[in-house]
Amino acid sequence: TLALPEGSTLIIGAGVAGLFTALKLAPNPVTVISAAPIGRGASSTWAQGGLAAAMGDDDTPALHFKDTIDAGAGLVEPEAARILTGEGPARVRDLIDLGVAFDVDDSGTLKLGREAAHSRKRIVHATGDRAGAAIMASLDEAAHTAEHITLRERMIAEDLATDDQGNVIGALIHDIIEQKRVLILCPRTVLATGGLGGLYAVTTNPVRAQGHGLAMALRAGAEIIDPEFVQFHPTALDVGIDPAPLATEALRGDGAILVSGKGRRFMKYLHEDAELAPRDIVARGVAQAVHNGGAFLDAREAIGAAFPEKFPTVYAACRDAGIDPVTELMPVAPAVHYHMGGVGTDVDGRTSRPGLWAVGEVASTGIHGANRLASNSLLEALVFGARAAESLKQDDTTIAPSSINLLPDRLALDAKPPVAADIARLRRTMADKAGILRNRDGLMAAMAVIGELEERSSLNSGMLNCLLTATMILAGALDRRESRGSHFRTDYPEKAAPPPVHTVMTFSAETGL
Ligand code: SIN
Repeated sequence: TLALPEGSTLIIGAGVAGLFTALKLAPNPVTVISAAPIGRGASSTWAQGGLAAAMGDDDTPALHFKDTIDAGAGLVEPEAARILTGEGPARVRDLIDLGVAFDVDDSGTLKLGREAAHSRKRIVHATGDRAGAAIMASLDEAAHTAEHITLRERMIAEDLATDDQGNVIGALIHDIIEQKRVLILCPRTVLATGGLGGLYAVTTNPVRAQGHGLAMALRAGAEIIDPEFVQFHPTALDVGIDPAPLATEALRGDGAILVSGKGRRFMKYLHEDAELAPRDIVARGVAQAVHNGGAFLDAREAIGAAFPEKFPTVYAACRDAGIDPVTELMPVAPAVHYHMGGVGTDVDGRTSRPGLWAVGEVASTGIHGANRLASNSLLEALVFGARAAESLKQDDTTIAPSSINLLPDRLALDAKPPVAADIARLRRTMADKAGILRNRDGLMAAMAVIGELEERSSLNSGMLNCLLTATMILAGALDRRESRGSHFRTDYPEKAAPPPVHTVMTFSAETGL
């Protein structure tokens, strides 16, 4: 057992959300644990598009707010969206102050890109398509030099610790290097564990992003909101690589078009904004085209010879797959990209459980609704990370040592990673049955597979976390008998009668949910 120094915060996860929250907590002491070496395991590093913020002369937070609300299909929380869009520009300036070199024109003005469903050019980017890597490099350097931050790499959180009042008081951690478990005690714990694309066979996320934070939060008694809203990116490169390389939406923002195997520009027939329609609509269009014989992104005319310089990451991925996007079409398919549901929080990152905060993709602040607007997620991590830090600074809770609940059943579990064949079966099942199109029979069949896997995996804590999170997605999807945003039920293809409702889930010992 390790008790952190007085006044400390424990942050689980070291992507943009975890590191930015840690930096904003200065001068209070923070311990950040990360499963991988900092920067290597986080989805943030792979983010291509950038940060959406009303920085342009023709833009305002009010316009950004309206686009965010419109994309979210009735489920965006206005207060959270107002805060996101209002405080966003100041947080972008924080990053500039930290040294992030966003792309600027000759006069030093930020170059702003366009992405789907944004009514203005408002995407701040870096080295073309390397915004995530640029931001992470600066945060990583700042966190390594900050005296108030202790970074502990190669530590995997398995579960949250609670006291007999139900307060979260730290976490059970697997130290990979020492091959032992540590119980870290702290009255303030922040989940910044990212998303869950790794539960699906086709994803743009690092495969280790398997939604463990959601499972831990649910078991600790926190509310989970809208877990069924899993966002598919319409254009991952379909070149047989796992995870699937992303072909950023900024390509379409720059004029690249989508064509079918027969060369038909199909999005023109599906939405008036064609390739720049909301992401869920483009994703379903691309899925249909793939089903009918193939979908391709064509950047030859719109971008052509400028491709390598403007989109170096996508260019490298294409060349690795033997494709030259300057002169050839890129085969694409939808891939799981982002989880819009998550651990419910207020606008200061507080979950429904005392002692527990959540920031970044693992959180549900309410700004994404049923369909996230592209490039709002890095912004969310910054805006609500900063607000969580303020709220953590105000908190002066201490732990009563006599009341620690030591989770004896978790300690009996094996901390090894999931068995490869089992996780592969889960990922295939989720992709087939809980993907872009869903229906009751498929979702029930997936539940049955989870039941079988649960019996086989009953002693493995990582796999049990994966199965619990997958169960939340399936249960939410079964319960939502309508189609809205990223959630499309072929047996309920319309939106339900208003008002739109959130799914709210809490733990019950009998059912697991
Ligand atoms: C992209 O670059 O297309 C991803 C942007 C996002 O998902 O926010």
